[in-house]
Amino acid sequence: MIRNNMPGYPLNRMRRNRQSNWSRRLVCENHLSRSDLILPVFVMEGKNQVEPIESLPNVNRYTIDRIVDIAIECEDNGIPLIAIFPVIDGSLKSDNAEEAYRSNNLVCRTVTAIKNKAPNIGIMTDVALDPYTIHGHDGIMKNDLIANDTTIEILIKQAINQCEAGADIIAPSDMMDGRVLKIREALEANNYQDTIIMSYSAKYASSYYGPFRDAIKSNKNLTGDKKTYQMDVANSDEALREAELDIAEGADMVMVKPGLPYLDIIHKIKSNLKVPTYAYQVSGEYASLMAASMNGWIEYDNIIMETLMCFKRAGADGILTYAALDVAKKISG
Ligand code: PBG
Repeated sequence: MIRNNMPGYPLNRMRRNRQSNWSRRLVCENHLSRSDLILPVFVMEGKNQVEPIESLPNVNRYTIDRIVDIAIECEDNGIPLIAIFPVIDGSLKSDNAEEAYRSNNLVCRTVTAIKNKAPNIGIMTDVALDPYTIHGHDGIMKNDLIANDTTIEILIKQAINQCEAGADIIAPSDMMDGRVLKIREALEANNYQDTIIMSYSAKYASSYYGPFRDAIKSNKNLTGDKKTYQMDVANSDEALREAELDIAEGADMVMVKPGLPYLDIIHKIKSNLKVPTYAYQVSGEYASLMAASMNGWIEYDNIIMETLMCFKRAGADGILTYAALDVAKKISG
């Protein structure tokens, strides 16, 4: 039986609309534009240096001056937002992550430098302690446990420090309970009422983050897993609750992470909450596609475009992807 008693074949032939390029374009339901793209970048200390990341081909760590060039390139190619992740020197890591809120730290200097040279691109900064803790966890450890409320105290200072440097979007990726509310209250109290919060609402305890941890050099320190704060891969209703809570606590945008294996979560959040919803095509996803394409097994350009279109189809308003600049150039070309 066909929906609404519609007549089937031969009155309906689905291939009619697919027969030519123009007709396929006419019935196309979703579109990917440069405005959907967010580029994550890794910044390190130094001058005029580029360091490849072995597990993330074609993605590099850059010094601030080189990140500025990339920000300008993103701006020129219509990318609305760049997301900054710092590589923190081992000597600055500590139990209480003090470096996270030191004024003029690496992230702050990066934000200021980009603001000076590329004023029309948005800058997002990550609020989480993993680059700054000795153990590589996103929070403060007490008796071998990640202490939620103690961590939030530090996250608040980190967020305000980033605002002072000029960050436009604050992105808590730590998965502590109640941190969005506490950060939002602190932003209001410190005259940053216009700062946007993009919350990593549904962030799963995933094995897809490995190359990222190499990139920021937190991997070799990490003890245990992140399952007491990041979500269980098996859960879906819980993701909706996380996103609902974050919106109620003052988040303006929510994010799902990882991306492609979690399209159902993106769709669920977007269709139920109808809020700006973003996806993170994370390092392990990108590295897998890249590795296969480097072996000649799949075709990079086409498969990246396909994955990004799938995010749009699922309901994502935008995608963080290491391929953002490649794709933006392709779309504009
Ligand atoms: C940590 C953080 C992670 C990523 C973004 N922020 C890793 C983690 O939770 O261990 C992963 C991004 C990626 O894999 O591309 N706050």
